[in-house]
Amino acid sequence: ARTAVVIPAAGRGVRLGPGAPKALRALNGTPMLIHAIRAMAASRAVSLVVVVAPPDGAGEVKSLLDAHALPERTDFVVVPGGESRQESVRLGLDALPDDFDIVLVHDAARPLVPVDTVDAVIEAVRDGAPAVVPALPLADTVKEVEPAPGEPEPVVATPVRARLRAVQTPQGFDRATLIRAHETVTEDVTDDASMVEQLGLTVVVVPGHEEAFKVTRPLDLVLAEAVLARRRL
Ligand code: C5P
Repeated sequence: ARTAVVIPAAGRGVRLGPGAPKALRALNGTPMLIHAIRAMAASRAVSLVVVVAPPDGAGEVKSLLDAHALPERTDFVVVPGGESRQESVRLGLDALPDDFDIVLVHDAARPLVPVDTVDAVIEAVRDGAPAVVPALPLADTVKEVEPAPGEPEPVVATPVRARLRAVQTPQGFDRATLIRAHETVTEDVTDDASMVEQLGLTVVVVPGHEEAFKVTRPLDLVLAEAVLARRRL
């Protein structure tokens, strides 16, 4: 069972503030995308990484990969992405050679995920799960609201916190299942596993990791650089 990773890195990262596309911003001097690629290639099971670049930035991303040291035993391919994350992932899947039957999808915006988490996801797919997500319990209580632009939003529900999980990446899939999910589901989703849920298949959870957090807002950059600094000690 050969394993490939698709890294959607085509987002603009508007919530992070003005500047370069999010994946190309530096963490301690190295672009977030390079950290994310290294985190995937750190797993001995991963033999191909497909990077989905901003639509007009594939050349720039290729140069970036050439400029950084990456493991020899892993192949790297860069393809241009699309308007939505979902479209970017689909374009990445289109670039996969036939001989891969396990696919991981990993956000470039989660540059610090430990290799043990990557390996746990791959292991669960190898054990027969069609879809696997790393996840953590929540610290905050979550409320569902009725969006009311310009007015205070009324709360409509409070799901039981102990039953909720915050889901991370890499998410792992049986390749044929993920491709079928992308062919079948047309509405917008925020993660790949939810498309497999819509096929009626069971998605299983493995323990996530605090360091797999998504770099979304400016404070996350501070946290990410602190984690990197601690690792160097
Ligand atoms: O916007 P969000 O934080 O959910 O993005 C998650 C990941 O999806 C990021 O790595 C981002 O670069 C990627 N993305 C993409 N193509 C888009 C939008 C987001 O590859 N059109």
